[in-house]
Amino acid sequence: MRRKLVAGNWKMHKNLTESQALITEIRGIVRDEFRKSQAEIVVCPTALALASAAKLVEGTDVQIGAQNIHEAIEGAFTGEWSAQMLSSISVTHAIIGHSERRQYFNETSKQCSLKIKSAVSEGITSLYCVGETLEERESEKHFEVIEDQLNEGLEGITADEMSNVVIAYEPVWAIGTGKTASSDQAQEVHAFIRAQVEKKYGKAISDTIRILYGGSVKPGNAGELFSQADIDGGLIGGASLKARDFFEIIQAAV
Ligand code: 13P
Repeated sequence: MRRKLVAGNWKMHKNLTESQALITEIRGIVRDEFRKSQAEIVVCPTALALASAAKLVEGTDVQIGAQNIHEAIEGAFTGEWSAQMLSSISVTHAIIGHSERRQYFNETSKQCSLKIKSAVSEGITSLYCVGETLEERESEKHFEVIEDQLNEGLEGITADEMSNVVIAYEPVWAIGTGKTASSDQAQEVHAFIRAQVEKKYGKAISDTIRILYGGSVKPGNAGELFSQADIDGGLIGGASLKARDFFEIIQAAV
């Protein structure tokens, strides 16, 4: 069975003091109320808070992820950081190819494949994001768009390396809009993604890879989404900024 995973993407929210306070609050709730059988928990604060967050969760069931990485190990890339630097501060996960990175920073799926490769080489698990815009869905191009994002983003990633890859389906039209894909709509795309992974890597890998749903997940809709056969947890934006809401979502992922 696939263990569910719930990751919080804080995006560009919370300064260092606020980040430390929220991590401490999440850590406390997890320590008091979390049972091991429940979902794997990842929190992705801003880059500024990563080192401090990783220290605060040492020895707990909370893991820390970055929201992005550069594909090189080091070099003249002002404003960037590498997988090697993240692993040196015990960051275990990295979101790759979030639609906001694609939209505002022109990231391409090809670039994402290099980032995933780099993350994997440091033992960092990639949360690789795919998803269509509203226009693409309305013109019924969503399957085609997602297939391209998977083919290009996973190019050069070997079957062995796939054990360090999680896919996140985030329909762009559902991010921060309050509009969630219905559980049927989400399940349909998740099944499609799993079929694509099977085509490329075979059944053993497609059966074990985790596919998260992201886009306006809240305590009230998480249970129904996570009960779908191919939905293995969530990538949570807004609701992950409130410790109690985030934990309720984690509890929905049993
Ligand atoms: P919201 O949950 O705020 O819609 O954001 C989803 C998201 O982009 C997570 O990466």
